[in-house]
Amino acid sequence: MKVALGVCGGIAAYKAAEIVRLLQDRGIRVQVIMTDSAQEFVRPLTFAALSGEKVITGMFNRDSGAEPNIDSAIEHIAVAQSIDALVVVPATADVLAKFAQGIASDFLTTLYLATAAPVVVAPAMNVNMWEHPATQQNLETLRKRGVKIVEPGSGYLACGMTGPGRLAENEAVVAAAMETLGASQDLSGETVLITAGPTREKIDPVRYLTNRSSGRMGYALAEAGLRRGARVLLVTGPTSLKPPSAAEVVVVESAKQMLDAVLRLLPEASIVIKTAAVADYTIADPAEQKLKRGGNMSLDLTPAPDILAEISRHKKSQLIIGFAAETENVLDNARQKLKSKSLDAIVVNDVSREGVGFDSDRNAVTIITRAETIPVPETTKWEVAQRVLDCVVELKQKLSVVNS
Ligand code: PMT
Repeated sequence: MKVALGVCGGIAAYKAAEIVRLLQDRGIRVQVIMTDSAQEFVRPLTFAALSGEKVITGMFNRDSGAEPNIDSAIEHIAVAQSIDALVVVPATADVLAKFAQGIASDFLTTLYLATAAPVVVAPAMNVNMWEHPATQQNLETLRKRGVKIVEPGSGYLACGMTGPGRLAENEAVVAAAMETLGASQDLSGETVLITAGPTREKIDPVRYLTNRSSGRMGYALAEAGLRRGARVLLVTGPTSLKPPSAAEVVVVESAKQMLDAVLRLLPEASIVIKTAAVADYTIADPAEQKLKRGGNMSLDLTPAPDILAEISRHKKSQLIIGFAAETENVLDNARQKLKSKSLDAIVVNDVSREGVGFDSDRNAVTIITRAETIPVPETTKWEVAQRVLDCVVELKQKLSVVNS
């Protein structure tokens, strides 16, 4: 997801820097747009360094020194079409008036008119400017148009006066942005430990036993967890995927290494989700040197550690969600694993089906808890991740009712 963060000229402009970081922590890409007056308070370089993106400081890419061309002339349209929300922090009386009247006099005000994305404004200004009927009328116009206003706080203002006009707390601005993005913060305060990808069991220095897991299901859960406000610990087997930047990642290879990482992190977690396709068997005695070609050969396999069983032995109050990859008797086998592995829920996928499950962007699963069976028909792994997290939130709520 991508947010355009409009920064206007005001003492509170520096606070927008922290908002860039808070949004990025939730897995959101941030494109900063600064008005001319904002640049009197904070240098664009600060936002460029924080966001990792070029900061837009005006129309026609004038600051680059390059000749305006068709790309720079329609950059506001490209940004307008690529964003999921426009968030303006701090929103001055001037920008609110321009938004309300539809005046497109710079990049930010032009973007406001050009985008169909939802808009959030966090006003900050002098108390008299805030209370002026013109400002209040502009706010009313914007409210009626569906713009979300993050009300300013009251207190001592930079101008020396006291009253409403102080920029709302950063967390309130971010919560409004996330709500607008449709990403509620219902996992805020939770630490989710996710395992993803395959494991590799060494045969000799150049060969190993593994499976077709790409890690996509686990990485989708990690990203979805971050967006919903959780701290995410991702223990991943080898994959070609880039983990979400805000996740705390431990890369492992074998089932034994995954077990060690999971047990080390378990005390920090309140929720464990095990999407990893862990080896059931490992090589009893891996060869020190590359095995030579010869006649028939057999590999001596020994059971790999059962990580879920170990989690169940060591867990305190954590909620444990397993995944099951089945090819026959899908629901019965999954229910069996739910019981035998002492899980709170199991997400089962029929991995014999084409186009879903292993190494695909799509999946079709059934979420089984001790009380419910919830089918999730074929969809993206992102959607599956959201449904699994909905179930996690529901189980958490039930648990807190029981404990209260
Ligand atoms: O990675 P992708 O390409 O996106 O594919 C996703 C997936 C198909 C791998 C995923 O949706 C999935 O089904 N993951 C579980 C795979 C699996 O190992 O299923 P299982 O039925 O063999 O194991 C049941 C549970 O026990 C799993 O939570 C597994 O992590 C756990 N397990 C298994 C073996 C073992 N030694 N220790 C374990 O803890």
